Amino acid sequence: MINQEYKDMLGAKSVIRELSEYATARGKEIGYENVFDFSLGNPSVDVPKEFTEEMIRLLQEEDTMTLHGYTPSLGNQKYKEAIAASLNRRFGMNYSAEHIFPTTGAAGAIAHAVRAVTKPGDEMIAFAPFFPEYRPYVGGAGVKLSIVPADTDSFQINFEKFEEMLSGKVSAVLINTPNNPSGVAYSTATLEKLSTILKEKSKEYGHTIFLISDEPYREIVFKGADAPYVSKFYDHTLSCYSFSKSLSLPGERIGYVAVNPACEGSDVIVPMCGQISRGTGHNCPPSIIQQAVAKVCDLTADLSVYETNMNIIYDTLVELGFSVVKPGGTFYIMPKALEDDSIAFCKKARDYDLIFVPTDGFGAPGYFRMAYCIDTDKVVRAMERLKKFVKEVY
Ligand SMILES: Cc1ncc(COP(=O)(O)O)c(C=O)c1O
Repeated sequence: MINQEYKDMLGAKSVIRELSEYATARGKEIGYENVFDFSLGNPSVDVPKEFTEEMIRLLQEEDTMTLHGYTPSLGNQKYKEAIAASLNRRFGMNYSAEHIFPTTGAAGAIAHAVRAVTKPGDEMIAFAPFFPEYRPYVGGAGVKLSIVPADTDSFQINFEKFEEMLSGKVSAVLINTPNNPSGVAYSTATLEKLSTILKEKSKEYGHTIFLISDEPYREIVFKGADAPYVSKFYDHTLSCYSFSKSLSLPGERIGYVAVNPACEGSDVIVPMCGQISRGTGHNCPPSIIQQAVAKVCDLTADLSVYETNMNIIYDTLVELGFSVVKPGGTFYIMPKALEDDSIAFCKKARDYDLIFVPTDGFGAPGYFRMAYCIDTDKVVRAMERLKKFVKEVY
């Protein structure tokens, strides 16, 4: 029998995908350079040349069995060692290779982390605004996801609501910093407070509440932002990382789970992930990509354009009277729409070939997301169009 649950999901088409398809179709009509498409979080900067050079070297010099053979189920040892050393050097941690599990991007990392520290029927908490894919990532593990409403002043954490919702049924809490869609990074003060609450509640309920930290934007942090390494604050942290954004490699599907060495079960979580892969079929990233990234994991693409674009957009939004929190990183910004119904606002913007995403699906109605991973000259032209739109419509 056809699985009705997945069949029903076909009806709920992603708003972001729909908007992006609209932008592509419109681009065919009027030229893509005239469509100001802020819908998709697809990196716009080149992969570092060192990655390309390493891929070429591997293809030319390594034997094909090593390059294209199965990796061990817990991943390529050199990749795991390189990641552990990089995190230790940069964040003062003490990971060893045994704490690193290679995954297919952050999506694969979260799929494994959730299954490692929950069982079907458990509850998890995430915070608005949140990445909508968390629903299938968590729901697919049979776990109920509750969303803490946003702290709309700062897009840090609404601790009052969080404490009300953090019951004894919650096995894990999922955070994302710097955040998609707000662009905000959780501050030292936020992470300290989060850690204190998790410690107190774990003690009160008699079980560890794990922290799953989704960090694909960790390397895209702007000047002056307070964006510390999450796992420093709370031992029971599983950090989920991806090279999709930092190295501009989303199509290669490469990331990892890093288990804090002081986390409960840190000696078994990575081997357990190997077992989880057997059930999800979502196992190790390609061997050659693990080998290439092992060599360049300390590098990033030239990410500076994102900060340039953010400043141009932020200044224009402020000038036009939008209410907006300045992003500390990522390539997203999330202003309040100029009317209560942000879907209506985005539809009106579309008439000006401005493609924005309403954030209702991110758990924060009334706002819209702009993904500014596009060329700066297009951002500049888009700001002129935005001024015209606001002047004529509002
Ligand atoms: C917040 C967040 N988490 C996870 C992911 C998934 O990342 P990946 O494509 O590396 O699996 C994304 C992708 O855009 C994201 O924005």
